[in-house]
Amino acid sequence: MLDRLRVFSGNAHPELARDICAHLGIPQGNVVLRRFPDGEIDLKIETDVRGADVFIMQPTCPPVHENLFELLTLIDCVKRASADRITAVIPYFGYARKDRKDEGRTPITAKLVANLITTAGADRVLAVDLHAAQIQGFFDIPVDHLYARPVIMEQLRKVVRKGTMVVSPDVGGVKLARAYAKDLGSETELAIVDKRRISGDKTVIENVVGDVRGREVVIVDDMVSTGGSIADAARIVRERGATRVHIAATHAVLCGSAIEKLQNAPVEKIFFTDTIPIPAKGLMDRLVVCSVASLLARAIDRIHRSESVSVLFDSQPTPPSR
Ligand code: R5P
Repeated sequence: MLDRLRVFSGNAHPELARDICAHLGIPQGNVVLRRFPDGEIDLKIETDVRGADVFIMQPTCPPVHENLFELLTLIDCVKRASADRITAVIPYFGYARKDRKDEGRTPITAKLVANLITTAGADRVLAVDLHAAQIQGFFDIPVDHLYARPVIMEQLRKVVRKGTMVVSPDVGGVKLARAYAKDLGSETELAIVDKRRISGDKTVIENVVGDVRGREVVIVDDMVSTGGSIADAARIVRERGATRVHIAATHAVLCGSAIEKLQNAPVEKIFFTDTIPIPAKGLMDRLVVCSVASLLARAIDRIHRSESVSVLFDSQPTPPSR
């Protein structure tokens, strides 16, 4: 059955593609990816895909436009090479935060990117922890949406005790925090940081709802971008008396001075998945990388065999959505 399965990757995250193929026990499809002198993408796949079930793995993390356009170009290439079915495997879906017009005369880029991927020729999408679950509805093709929480929990359980308090760094993250709290057996004891976003890289903390005094806490979020939200949240819960603070997030976007902010944050352990390559430098001793390679490989295998993917998250009754 696996003889019709092909996995290709762009330049965004070759290590994750390699690990996924190792879990699947298949060789990765060969792509020659070059640039024309003016920067345009020039590529050729060197593996036959006629009639094949093709998965193209590429998170649309920074450099966002390079990675997004590589994904689109790969999809187009594979479609024109007569693949039977194309699944875009997008462990991190960028542009997700612009999912509505929150003020006049602004675009909805999450929808635009969904349209681009579909128009390029994808038949399905496989994603991990979309910033908002409703982004699935921006695609008119099937979307399998995986949750990274069990992967992070596996590592988190080795470090924190049952009953550790979960903190959401903003009101929008409460559902995700509740799901973690349930796993940690402290569902009734959430704390929420009341954060107001002023711009893309500036937030202000107004208050902490919930008593963190004397508690070990874990602050959970779907992504860490500039690091401002999570570092500020760590600082304020420490000020309010938390004894030990850990942070856990799916997507380590880590742009701008994020690494520096994390280095200076009063946290013990930092749990990130590898949906995006993590520039671990400077975080080494505190960083715990929770790999999604096996989760994605199992999902790819099940999609290829037309088996249910939801069994992979049956143990997650409260999926993260905003
Ligand atoms: C917000 O809705 C998200 O869940 C994250 O809290 C946010 O994107 C993190 O951004 P930053 O790291 O730049 O504060």
